[in-house]
Amino acid sequence: IDKKQFQEDLIGWFLAEKRDLPWRRTADPYQIWISEIMLQQTRVDTVIPYYKRFVEKFPTLYDLAEADEQILLKEWEGLGYYSRARNLQAGVKEVAENYGGIVPDNRKDFSSLKGVGPYTAGAVLSIAYGIPEHAVDGNVMRVLSRILLIEEDIAKPKTRKLFEEAVTEIISHEDPSSFNQGLMELGALICTPTSPKCLLCPVREHCAAFDKGKQHDLPIKTKA
Ligand code: ADE
Repeated sequence: IDKKQFQEDLIGWFLAEKRDLPWRRTADPYQIWISEIMLQQTRVDTVIPYYKRFVEKFPTLYDLAEADEQILLKEWEGLGYYSRARNLQAGVKEVAENYGGIVPDNRKDFSSLKGVGPYTAGAVLSIAYGIPEHAVDGNVMRVLSRILLIEEDIAKPKTRKLFEEAVTEIISHEDPSSFNQGLMELGALICTPTSPKCLLCPVREHCAAFDKGKQHDLPIKTKA
């Protein structure tokens, strides 16, 4: 893969075609953190109105840190997976108490917070702070399995690390935010699970799976 050309094609496409989503209108790490937690088990269209209400109700990290749990859970009602909301508040309280209200700008500290896994940490660090950290979820694994022709089973817990290493190798250091969001956006709009729109793909010429006609055979996923 021609790394520089790939980065340029992916980022150029993302900047031109990205959806206007509410969490893309803020630079606040706290608000971006909220969006990434909501987006973990819930689709974008569902998240949008919840996200808007939530940041209106709890505009700053301290507003959420100090919120009554019942009021918090009422704002989360309908999103499900309520432990996400409780963990988010616990993480936010830790930041208020131990980091002076500043969301940590490094993976070690951010990952130590309640409810923050490797994906959430990488997403917030790259999007909010412009730090070149990997943010690998199932969608990103699908996209990269095709571009890089990675034939490991993505259902195996150990496989994600391989993809994290691949992203670390190719991520843009000029614009890590657009690079990671470009991979997410490609997975959402073009490099979809069942009928990938390869003829519209901005990085088709970099895609090893397309080159070999294997895009429908990837990713390899055994269970579920
Ligand atoms: N899915 C996960 N994170 C996302 C983001 N920042 N924008 C759109 N979809 C996403």
